[in-house]
Amino acid sequence: MPWGMPAGPEGEIMSDTFADKIAIVTGGTSGIGYAVAEELLKRGATVWVIGSRQESVDKAKISLAAYRKAKFAAVDVTVADQVKGMIDTCVSEDGRLDYLFNNAGIGMTHPSRHLTLEMWRKAIDLNLWGVVYGVHYALPVMLAQGSGHIVNTSSVAGIIAPPAQTVYCATKYAVTGMTEALRYEFFEDGITFTTVCPANVATAIFAGTTIPKEAIPADEAARIILSGVEKKEGLIIFPEFAKKMYERFLADPAFEEKFMLEYARRRNAGWASGVPYLGVPDDLLDMQG
Ligand SMILES: NC(=O)c1ccc[n+]([C@@H]2O[C@H](COP(=O)([O-])OP(=O)(O)OC[C@H]3O[C@@H](n4cnc5c(N)ncnc54)[C@H](OP(=O)(O)O)[C@@H]3O)[C@@H](O)[C@H]2O)c1
Repeated sequence: MPWGMPAGPEGEIMSDTFADKIAIVTGGTSGIGYAVAEELLKRGATVWVIGSRQESVDKAKISLAAYRKAKFAAVDVTVADQVKGMIDTCVSEDGRLDYLFNNAGIGMTHPSRHLTLEMWRKAIDLNLWGVVYGVHYALPVMLAQGSGHIVNTSSVAGIIAPPAQTVYCATKYAVTGMTEALRYEFFEDGITFTTVCPANVATAIFAGTTIPKEAIPADEAARIILSGVEKKEGLIIFPEFAKKMYERFLADPAFEEKFMLEYARRRNAGWASGVPYLGVPDDLLDMQG
């Protein structure tokens, strides 16, 4: 094995792309963000692990105590000044910012007729404004450096529109769109933008509900994300069935409509029976268009 190349869980050789890099991971105290932060730490990066609650930050500090390059801060990404402070502190302590993972977010699957304006505001503040603030304050730093990579977490619900995910789709489609536009605009400046589109990942986002059967573990999600980030991919869609589903929808809009109407039927029946249907009906992929 080449020197400096750590072995992955299946014995594969991982590059040292992230070694000695400076990264911020928002929503780094739980789920996908926590797994991304830990994987970056394993690969030698300095990582600012961010949560909004001091309690979750303290918990992450204990569980990541083995990593001497882990740093922690409680930052509410819905507050512009706090995001500015997070980036200023990182640059003043570490001299630069190589990777910003705008990952903090909340899920929202809810019958649209029962949505409140508070629910809309809560999701837009976190899932969209949180990302906007991150980009706004990180971009000047990265432009001055002449390099940097911003990774925005969208969702499969940011490229297809599952029924009863009206608010979530509104925020995640916005994240996908802004990230793609930024990717092209700043390509020649040496700044990379990536959109991450997971389908279900087993995390606290499903707290109080049942984790869908197709959900993958957060550490598997983190390895897929970092593999795509390393390759500077524009759109990272996973797991494989979600990517295939997206590609099939693009190729066959009539199939997409049939699939989505059946998806809506299952979701509506779920609400009516009191057992919400939160999964992705991957079995429908066998259906003929
Ligand atoms: N899990 C999935 O199936 C799935 C699928 C597609 C997309 N995603 C997206 O992936 C991202 C991570 O989701 P997850 O499932 O890993 O969620 P999670 O386990 O619930 O973690 C959410 C993280 O966000 C932080 N957070 C919440 N509000 C915040 C705020 N105002 N400011 C800063 N941090 C805040 C939380 O820390 P505190 O508790 O300290 O606030 C926590 O670290 C989200 O953007 C989500 O939409 C998830």
